[in-house]
Amino acid sequence: MRHRGEDMGKYQDFYRRSIEDRDAFWAEQAQFIHWEKAPEVICDYSNPPFVKWFKGGLTNLCYNAVDRHAAKRPDAPALIYVSTETGEEKTYSYGELQREVERMAAIYRKLGVEKGDRVLIYMPMIPQAAFAMLACVRLGAIHSVVFGGFASASLATRIDDAKPKLVVTAEAGMRNGNVIPYKHLLDEACRISQSPPEKVLIVDRGLDPNFARVEGRDLDYATLREEVGEARVPVEWVDATHPSYILYTSGTTGKPKGVQRDTGGYAVALASSMKYIFCGGEGETMFCTSDIGWVVGHGYIIYGPLLAGMATVMYEGTPLRPDPGIWWRLVEKYRINVMFSAPTAVRVLKKQDPSYMKRDLSSLKHFFLAGEPLDETTHRWIHEALGVPVIDNYWQTESGWPILALCRGVQEDLPIKYGSPGLPVYGYDLHVYREDGTECGPNEKGIVGVVPPLPPGCLSTVWGQDDRFVSTYFSLFREPLVYSTADWGIRDENGYLTILGRVDDVINVAGHRLGTREIEEAIQSNPAIAEVAVVGVRDEVKGQVPVAFAVVKDPSRIATREARRALEEEVKKTVDELLGAIARPHRVYFVQGLPKTRSGKMLRRSLQALAEGRDPGDLPTIEDPAALEMVAEAIRES
Ligand code: PRX
Repeated sequence: MRHRGEDMGKYQDFYRRSIEDRDAFWAEQAQFIHWEKAPEVICDYSNPPFVKWFKGGLTNLCYNAVDRHAAKRPDAPALIYVSTETGEEKTYSYGELQREVERMAAIYRKLGVEKGDRVLIYMPMIPQAAFAMLACVRLGAIHSVVFGGFASASLATRIDDAKPKLVVTAEAGMRNGNVIPYKHLLDEACRISQSPPEKVLIVDRGLDPNFARVEGRDLDYATLREEVGEARVPVEWVDATHPSYILYTSGTTGKPKGVQRDTGGYAVALASSMKYIFCGGEGETMFCTSDIGWVVGHGYIIYGPLLAGMATVMYEGTPLRPDPGIWWRLVEKYRINVMFSAPTAVRVLKKQDPSYMKRDLSSLKHFFLAGEPLDETTHRWIHEALGVPVIDNYWQTESGWPILALCRGVQEDLPIKYGSPGLPVYGYDLHVYREDGTECGPNEKGIVGVVPPLPPGCLSTVWGQDDRFVSTYFSLFREPLVYSTADWGIRDENGYLTILGRVDDVINVAGHRLGTREIEEAIQSNPAIAEVAVVGVRDEVKGQVPVAFAVVKDPSRIATREARRALEEEVKKTVDELLGAIARPHRVYFVQGLPKTRSGKMLRRSLQALAEGRDPGDLPTIEDPAALEMVAEAIRES
């Protein structure tokens, strides 16, 4: 598609102002939300790279997302819950949503939750999960949502880091019509954790009648909800810089990082993004197909649409059940205006009978995709199938909202370039760097970086580890000081960027970010395994899948093909039990040794090349040249 430089003037001016006249720009954006007390300083950057946005201001995320709309439009729809797993469908108005959030907040109060306390939320996609998140920020408590697909070891690391006073959970989830018990995973996580929570609040949907309760610790949500009745719980005004939540994400080490978000900056960034990027406004309906366990779910299932006064669809189910037409039926039924999903889901839908899309989709204005690279073919297909602009947007758990996108709410006719998430979003002083810290020219591959201060909405630090914030994100070069996205990118002569994958050992499976080190540590805990390397291997639908190469302690365990298969299943089960099925390796190949350089560095790229059927190239510094040949053989023979 065409994308000539001169077409983008209006956006370019808007963007330039956000960088060159930063404080005035963000002071204007701050008007999108209610301030109980106006900020004194727009951007306090006296302690680089740490930044305090809207310092001195008092606000509340829940008030902005719920109360202020409930006061004006109590009967307007706020939360549309649809479960194709249980068949439940229910719309909560803003008035009803506020009542439910206050009930949850009253329960928290009863359990002693105070401002600054952490509440860990480990739940399926049910309305109570939204109540639980909003009730936290109402009280100034800090939520940490852990994706329901994670298992006990992942959960335990997060519990140990966040040290929650309370865990809110459900007895079970459901996927593809099957009940997935949750509660025993939490019990196991509490057992292995160093700092287990005092109380566990359980939303019991009756899906798993046999779940075990721990006397004195486990509490029933329905009972407490009755007990608190109609109690009103006022919002707690907090400093703009007060943490709203912690969300753990994978990096290069085995230990996930707690991305800490503030309150005021986040509210302003999200509210502005609803207008300028997602083009959604009061009275409209948004359907974001992510999960509340991910950053996209935090921003665009819960906070973003509610801050904008929209109705948000919260969907429990898959895109294919009861049939592949389900999403389009929802668009028709609820007159959905804005949709936000991930490329993997679109690649899955692309394989279905096109007649499933023959619905009245006339309400839809835009379709957004993020989380992983969107290939040109998929971009073109969904654009043509829907007949509305499909906007790819690139960002990270750390940023909390898009870094690259086309801000069509600023300039409606910004041209779409297939295969590119577009231009730097306002507020991000983005550049592409060579490894020596100098800047790349047009069409030259480099590392995507952002000159701090990071704009409002981005992580303020790593929970409890300021030093890790600096060393992980700001140590790319000695000079200049730059936030590293850890992604390769390339910028064309018109300013459009293309993302070319991660610089580090993070892989992206169906839009979900996983650290290969975490998977390696899980596999290593199986007593049969001596050493293991996990790499991300290209997959047509999921983008990437994890593949493991393992060395066993006792060679008799892999003497026959049957034995290898049995051990492979066992290793996969270990990963399921510790991390969850989402991290399960697609294949486990058993090898006699892993290819390393003479200095002991694992040759991950070569393993990846072999698993993808490519030539690993010339490797002069390899320790044992036969190792690679043995890997190739293991792949052939499996
Ligand atoms: O590698 C980039 C990829 O996903 C990473 C961030 O993942 P996560 O923290 O889970 O946040 C997802 C928020 C949307 C990035 O470092 N990524 C994300 N969006 C895109 C992408 N790669 C290419 N194109 C995208 N649109």
